[in-house]
Amino acid sequence: KQIQLDFSKALGTVTPQDMDSRIAAYRERLKDILAAQAGASDVLGWVDPDHCADEALVARIEETAAEIRANAEVFLLIGVGGSNQGARAAIKAFQRDAKPEIVYTGNNLSPVYMKRILERIEGKSVYANVIAKNFATLEPGICFRVIRKQLEAALGEGAAARRIIATGSPNRSSLERLAAAQGYRFFPFPLDIGGRFSVLSAVGLLPIAASGVAIREILRGARDMAQRLRTASLEENPAVQYGVLRNLLLERGFSLEILGYFEPLLEYFSKWWVQLFGESEGKQGTGIFPAACSFSEDLHALGQYIQDGRRMIMETFINLEDPGASVPIPEDPGTEDGFAYLDGKDFAHLNRTAFEATVKAHADGGVPVQILNVPALTPYYMGQLFYFFEYACYISASLLGVNPFDQPGVEAYKTHMFNALGKRE
Ligand code: PA5
Repeated sequence: KQIQLDFSKALGTVTPQDMDSRIAAYRERLKDILAAQAGASDVLGWVDPDHCADEALVARIEETAAEIRANAEVFLLIGVGGSNQGARAAIKAFQRDAKPEIVYTGNNLSPVYMKRILERIEGKSVYANVIAKNFATLEPGICFRVIRKQLEAALGEGAAARRIIATGSPNRSSLERLAAAQGYRFFPFPLDIGGRFSVLSAVGLLPIAASGVAIREILRGARDMAQRLRTASLEENPAVQYGVLRNLLLERGFSLEILGYFEPLLEYFSKWWVQLFGESEGKQGTGIFPAACSFSEDLHALGQYIQDGRRMIMETFINLEDPGASVPIPEDPGTEDGFAYLDGKDFAHLNRTAFEATVKAHADGGVPVQILNVPALTPYYMGQLFYFFEYACYISASLLGVNPFDQPGVEAYKTHMFNALGKRE
């Protein structure tokens, strides 16, 4: 079964003719965008999943992951932005084992958070994976130093080095040099892939494999989606439809997109999506602001604004066709709790009903709604989703006229922070 995009509930705002004529007007541009090949540029390596992760790399990742899984009680993932979001999305959705416990650091500077991590790993068997494309970002760099010093103090330098894995640019980057000097294992952060497009490379795959999740299934899904998106006609290509539609909606004043889902296991996937679209599109005074809602919870929070607030929100729902579990509602004849009308029903049915009711309410309320129908929440379909959104983001940002692959705005806070901290070039 395939992932399907249903945009029929956005067609009150945009007509099918609008879509057809925009695709026709963009035909040559879209063909150029879709003709992009991995290897043809220094930013498009992610376009071909086999270019990101060939068999030799996957085998080496699996071998390292098996060692981690056999020996580690805690696996520290040290990275920020594109260097940790993709792995965290898959791990939080699928990890079933308690061992190793995956702990994320390098993504904030909270002293409380860092102290708690140091206390948490005290006396435990720890492996650490530091991930950075250029290793100048302060947060992962300095958190790695703190972790490294604690591991060295506990184990000695040599034993600590055998438990540290660095993933960085293989071009004599400072992290590669540090790894060589200290004897850390080293995995490549591909030079032609930016952070937020890196989940299907060693950047995402090593931590995901360390958590016990099947990376070959993720890659199989990505490959199948790549094949589909790169061969479909423009009119039937869901990534083109998604990109074109959101650009048309932006022109009509819908400047905020919510990714909505009724499965909380998707929470960190939605954060990956927010980062992908936010950093890729929000520049030069334009772009759609991406946000995420976990329903039902957020129906009792942002739901009010979505339904009744300013009409600037479009919504994209991830609909999991297979709910993943069944929990029948027990009957309770002796108690008047007001819920007898649910006797004999199943939680999966309630969740589906809540989803359908939300789509209807929001669409009727003037929110253009798209639904991404996903057969099931499995590594295979998450691989498809990773690739689908990367490709759709690339198309959408390119049509908007911005460079999807840079993030110049991130430098502003860094400059002030580095100046205040006395960093010299
Ligand atoms: O998507 C991106 O490129 C960014 O979010 C980076 O991943 C993030 O800034 C971290 O960069 P680095 O891996 O160099 O520490």
